[in-house]
Amino acid sequence: MSREWRCAVIGTGMIGEWHVRMIPQLPHCRLVAVCDNDPNRTKAAMEKCNVTAPVYGDMEEMFAKEQIDSVHLCTPSGQHLEQAQLAMRQGKNVIVEKPMEIHPDRVDQMVQAARKYGVKLAGIFQNRWNPANRAIRDAVAQGRFGRLAWAGSFTPWYRPDKYYQAGGWRGTWKLDGGGAVMNQGVHQLDLMQWIVGPVKTVCAFASSRIHASIEVEDTLSCALQFENGAFGSYLATTAMFPGSPTRLEVGGEFGTAISENGLKRFEFKEEQPQDKPLLEQLSPALAKNSGGGKNPTDVTQDLHGQNLLHIYQAWENGQEAETSGPESRKAVAIVHAMYRSVRKNGAPVDVK
Ligand SMILES: NC(=O)c1ccc[n+]([C@@H]2O[C@H](COP(=O)([O-])OP(=O)(O)OC[C@H]3O[C@@H](n4cnc5c(N)ncnc54)[C@H](O)[C@@H]3O)[C@@H](O)[C@H]2O)c1
Repeated sequence: MSREWRCAVIGTGMIGEWHVRMIPQLPHCRLVAVCDNDPNRTKAAMEKCNVTAPVYGDMEEMFAKEQIDSVHLCTPSGQHLEQAQLAMRQGKNVIVEKPMEIHPDRVDQMVQAARKYGVKLAGIFQNRWNPANRAIRDAVAQGRFGRLAWAGSFTPWYRPDKYYQAGGWRGTWKLDGGGAVMNQGVHQLDLMQWIVGPVKTVCAFASSRIHASIEVEDTLSCALQFENGAFGSYLATTAMFPGSPTRLEVGGEFGTAISENGLKRFEFKEEQPQDKPLLEQLSPALAKNSGGGKNPTDVTQDLHGQNLLHIYQAWENGQEAETSGPESRKAVAIVHAMYRSVRKNGAPVDVK
């Protein structure tokens, strides 16, 4: 990369702090401002990351005073559209934390705004840079599984009540847009559709099993069918103490693979010389955390760095990022089909 990207972070809470830490480590990126309407959170994030930059409590004031090329939106999910539109109107490129927005129509409006104002838009789905997930995706693309029969994706996590109370927006329809699926399980859903292909139909059941104070589901279980004919099973929960790593399993005619805090299984009728070394190199026995199972920070931050690096490299080359607006929409659209099915007591609903 040759040009310098002047970056600003909006929302310096749990995940915004990661962006504040990561941006100065990215080549040709400079953190030029941070913005949060709670100055205590900005102060805490800057101190923790040992970085300094001008601090703002209001986006418009920040845009008026600072030269900024790109903003990283790390605010509650249901605010992303209006904040992205505000930034784009000022000619800023926008990187948005997952989920890009809480409704596919709102993602579409973000994509349209990026086109209208001639700026770039990208989302974050950092688990696409997990090497175990990427190895399985490559194997699917190379046809190593033959006809796919089934894929499973499970997020058996635990969050205590105080997680939902913090911030005041989690667990609300308006700002979280849903519960265990829209907030946590959306990662695995994105991986499943990215690896196996588009999801055609879903049948889902959901409710809040243990978190009495939230409006949304803390557990959702779903059967699904992919456009290529394969079947699937999906679980997202924040109600399974103590919380376990996510699991993605894919299998078919010629092979089975499992990604669970590493590459747990990678077995094909026709073995290739790199298969065994890859299993050893990515062994779950080497994992150092629960992959977010026990709490949101019990994960590696490296994948975020790789997702961000990829975005800036793609933009530098005049390309869309792998996690572009339309790509980020796919998981949100599946979540919405699931919620429509839940409201119809598990009836089949097509993804749109
Ligand atoms: N990629 C991941 O793995 C991952 C992990 C956690 C959260 N997230 C996503 O990141 C986003 C934020 O989640 P979080 O857990 O960091 O939330 P948080 O509550 O910890 O932080 C949100 C921050 O935004 C600030 N904020 C709210 N409204 C604002 C406004 N109008 N202007 C400026 N600042 C404002 C709040 O003061 C707070 O500091 C959500 O979309 C969430 O889904 C992604």
